[in-house]
Amino acid sequence: MSAEFVAAGTLTELEDKGRLVVRGAHRPILVVKDGSHVHAFDNRCPHMGFPLDRGSVEDGILTCHWHHARFDLASGCTFDLWADDVPTCPVEIRGEEVWVKPEFGHKDPAVYWARRLENAMAHNLGLGIAKAVRSQLAAGVAPLEIVHQAAVFGAKHLDRWGTGMTIMTALGNVLEILPEQEVFLALFHGITRVAADCDDATPHRRSAALASRPDRQMLKRWLRRWAAVRHDDAAERTVLTAISAGARPAALADLLLTAETDRVFADGGHSLDFINKAFECLDLIGWQHAEELLPLIVGQMVAARGADESTEWRQPVDLVALCESAAVDLPALFASGREAAARARGPWPNHAELAEALLADDPNAIIAALKTAISEGATVADLGRALCYAAALRIARFGTANEHGDWETAHHVFTYCNAVHQGLKRISADPELLATGVEPARALFHGAMAIYLARYLNVPPARLPDEGDDQLRDLPSTVQNIRTALLDAFDRQHRVEDVARLVARHLTLGHSPDSIIVGLAHALLREDAGFHAYQMFEAGLRQFREWDDPEPRRHILIAVARYLAAHSPTERASLQTAEIAARLSRGDQLHEDS
Ligand code: FES
Repeated sequence: MSAEFVAAGTLTELEDKGRLVVRGAHRPILVVKDGSHVHAFDNRCPHMGFPLDRGSVEDGILTCHWHHARFDLASGCTFDLWADDVPTCPVEIRGEEVWVKPEFGHKDPAVYWARRLENAMAHNLGLGIAKAVRSQLAAGVAPLEIVHQAAVFGAKHLDRWGTGMTIMTALGNVLEILPEQEVFLALFHGITRVAADCDDATPHRRSAALASRPDRQMLKRWLRRWAAVRHDDAAERTVLTAISAGARPAALADLLLTAETDRVFADGGHSLDFINKAFECLDLIGWQHAEELLPLIVGQMVAARGADESTEWRQPVDLVALCESAAVDLPALFASGREAAARARGPWPNHAELAEALLADDPNAIIAALKTAISEGATVADLGRALCYAAALRIARFGTANEHGDWETAHHVFTYCNAVHQGLKRISADPELLATGVEPARALFHGAMAIYLARYLNVPPARLPDEGDDQLRDLPSTVQNIRTALLDAFDRQHRVEDVARLVARHLTLGHSPDSIIVGLAHALLREDAGFHAYQMFEAGLRQFREWDDPEPRRHILIAVARYLAAHSPTERASLQTAEIAARLSRGDQLHEDS
């Protein structure tokens, strides 16, 4: 007999009392007799930990007396999917004695909890998702493997790419900088949003690649044609054909962003942003999933409405015409720029100056500044960086006299510019495309005009903490005290200027940026944040990392902090669900009497 078994009592005791609870160093074990069979379970209800010995047994079913989840006595499997299965323990009857083995869990917890995650996503069960994520992490599953599982689920069940996949990808991109507890929260937030989107969706009807193998230029012409006439089936087959012909990620980005930028700032920037996020999701889970994921973005790219259909882009100045005219010059400008770069001693250096020029009040001057930078040797990556800094300054200087909803205008411009920057960097990583494929670079003009149109948000401009004579000396100075003050500010509404000053204080004192970034991540992940807040944090972090100079880095983080503070605090209901899962996973008591 195994020494690991422990005595639970006698059969007579079990008959008399109806149930036994075995306590020890292990979790309490419930022993129940049903007819001639004896069963043993973890005594904590898998839903929220209520003691199951206070439940009732009838007709082979154990019912928990908190939220009335019901379990099959023979297997521990639940009839109520939100509750999860209750772990069982081995039982041995030795003569009159009942012995149980205090061994819980599953033969392969990683496999079991991956299956549970799929099931919880299929039923859109927040607590179930939290438990499955938490348990997979406890079983040693890599966080990105969990993102992979959820992304594949989303690809299978969604009709189109949506906010859930965008949030999950944005959070997947920042996992590496997060402490363990925040990794769990990030995965939980992202995956619950994917599951919620799937809950309402009819799975996408898949089509197949063409049997032929047209060359890259023909595929590009076709995709532009299908996008122009909004023929989504044809567009999808064209993209699938490119994938099946083995197009590299850079070539797929060039293909999609060329068609996408035939419309200006489509769907307020979301369309291009979603395409970029689908690429980034593939970076996280592997480009072998391109055939599953990329069709999800084609439909909305084809359906998106360009800013060319909006009055503000046409009057009093026809900004669309201005962009189109500038785009004609792009091949020659980039050719001159390559020659200038070859003559120069080092990389093009004027990013911050260009960013300030992009904040001008004259759209012609803005376009001219971009064209000059290109001809002087600025790469698309340089231009994208300057563009994003200008867009971040709109948020850093967002005047709080604006309507609250105007934060979203500033945010859209920033995340659009970030998507343009990332997309162009992806394309330009391919030397062949760098030399020949300049069409998507039109998006730089589109982003610049979106920044120009958002100039009213800085009238009057909010003063940056490092402008004027504010020495910030009234603020704490240690890392811990600044973090405490920061989180305290996020606990209250409209502390936009307080958080900006604290971020500036932290950075100007020379503390590691990592600690304030982690503080901002915590402030975000404890909230029931909106879609834009996740985008803002991730795009801000990406842009922060683009710079070595302290001033732009400081301004970008101030922009992130101000946006987050304008949208905090919230109910924090998701945090409560996540904490329940964490406490269950640790074996903590949840019910006050348990
Ligand atoms: S049903 Fe058992 S704790 Fe909720």
